[in-house]
Amino acid sequence: LDRSPIIAIDGPAGAGKSTVTRRVAAALGLLHLDTGAMYRAFTWLVLNSQVSLDDEARIAELVSQADLQLSLSDHPDVPVRVNLNGEDITQLIRTPLVTRKVSAIAAQKAVRQKLLEQQQQWGEKGGLVAEGRDIGTHVFPNAELKIFLTASVGERARRRQREMVTQNQETIDFEQLQKEIQERDVYDSNRSIAPMRKAPDAIELVTDGLTIEQVIEKIVQLYRVRFSS
Ligand code: CDP
Ligand code: CDP
Repeated sequence: LDRSPIIAIDGPAGAGKSTVTRRVAAALGLLHLDTGAMYRAFTWLVLNSQVSLDDEARIAELVSQADLQLSLSDHPDVPVRVNLNGEDITQLIRTPLVTRKVSAIAAQKAVRQKLLEQQQQWGEKGGLVAEGRDIGTHVFPNAELKIFLTASVGERARRRQREMVTQNQETIDFEQLQKEIQERDVYDSNRSIAPMRKAPDAIELVTDGLTIEQVIEKIVQLYRVRFSS
């Protein structure tokens, strides 16, 4: 093997990918790559331009000129910092508007092509835990460990709502939140390019009723077993 190990973590919104990935990475001394942040960054770019969300040709042009910089995090308390064309947009990519529009941008060919290249470049030397929707299937199909993290939609919506309360964010009605999560799942799973899918060799972890610590423990365990044999 000419690179360090890679762990791929895929799954739907609210499954716990970001939280779990950051802490698994720290526990194993690996870096954390949040690919969702990259799709959010390009969505923010389009929303702040004069280009409409379905104008694929002009979006292709916009993203081809974009300079996207991510600081890969090596600490669980440090979420990834995102810089686009010289501007720090770390906070700006987490708004409800970006969340509602991101799937439509992430379905476009030019957007996926550019980000796929950048992700694979960052992963060239390995030594990272990457999270997203298509990591095990497309970005790092040779990853040593693949996890498909999931939970029922009700559980995922409850987690998101709890998160909004603790972070003092504006809360969204529970039914509405559940509906938006479900719509994004359907959209992400049914697009033609690199849809969200469990890789055939991925281990599915259903996390309903599991604490964050229990999920981390399981993944770290799986990794250790794999690398001690
Ligand atoms: O954190 P949350 O699950 O809400 O979403 P995210 O991981 O930040 O991803 C936002 C969106 O980016 C997803 O709903 C997908 O449309 C897209 N995405 C993707 O298409 N492929 C990836 N590898 C990661 C994210
Ligand atoms: O990245 P993704 O959208 O998959 O999920 P996340 O942002 O890591 O997690 C969503 C919320 O669920 C966070 O507030 C986590 O603290 C919480 N969570 C939980 O309560 N129990 C778990 N087993 C995993 C996550």
